Amino acid sequence: MATFILTTHHTPRDLGDRVALGFTKALRLLADTFFAKRYGHRAIVLETVAAVPGMVGATLQHLRCLRRMQHDRGWIHTLLDEAENERMHLMTFVEVAKPNWLERVLILLTQGAFYNAFFLLYLISPKTAHRVVGYFEEEAVVSYTGYLAEIDAGRHANPPAPRLAIDYWKLPETATLRDVVLAVRNDEANHRDVNHGFADTLAGQPSADADRRDEPRKAA
Ligand SMILES: [Fe+2]
Ligand SMILES: [Fe+2]
Repeated sequence: MATFILTTHHTPRDLGDRVALGFTKALRLLADTFFAKRYGHRAIVLETVAAVPGMVGATLQHLRCLRRMQHDRGWIHTLLDEAENERMHLMTFVEVAKPNWLERVLILLTQGAFYNAFFLLYLISPKTAHRVVGYFEEEAVVSYTGYLAEIDAGRHANPPAPRLAIDYWKLPETATLRDVVLAVRNDEANHRDVNHGFADTLAGQPSADADRRDEPRKAA
């Protein structure tokens, strides 16, 4: 399994980046207020959101390639993989926690609003849309680090990993929830770097990997 740097943060470089970061921080505050340390429930609701951008991005990149009769540089496959990977996160966490009725309503309303809003944003500025996902994923890494801390402190149970997770991530038969959260956090860090990289490419900027690596962020 490849490992990723946990402390990566992209410094906003223009107005679009600042809007993307502000939007992400506002959603983070909402999620922190609503879920606090109920990480299993938090993961379920947020993974239903996280699985949307990859599908929207893949659809709109696909349509763009058709219109312009151009190759996609491998982006469509990458984005579809991301959407599927996020859906597997969701399927894993519903084995660990069960959403209550309020969370189910929240999921319905959030999907209705977020799918359309993200679609529109991607039409207007694909670069800002990928930056939003990059920042979402920075926050996802922080949240899963918090989840691990709860498990390690003994405040959250550490049951055996669901069968589906063992098969998907090819984990040992003795794997526990902790191993699953580590694998999921690694996926999120990968999505973060891919999406910041796509945003950089669309902005015509060189890869910002170096300055992102140099800038530690606070772990929540
Ligand atoms: Fe995820
Ligand atoms: Fe993700």
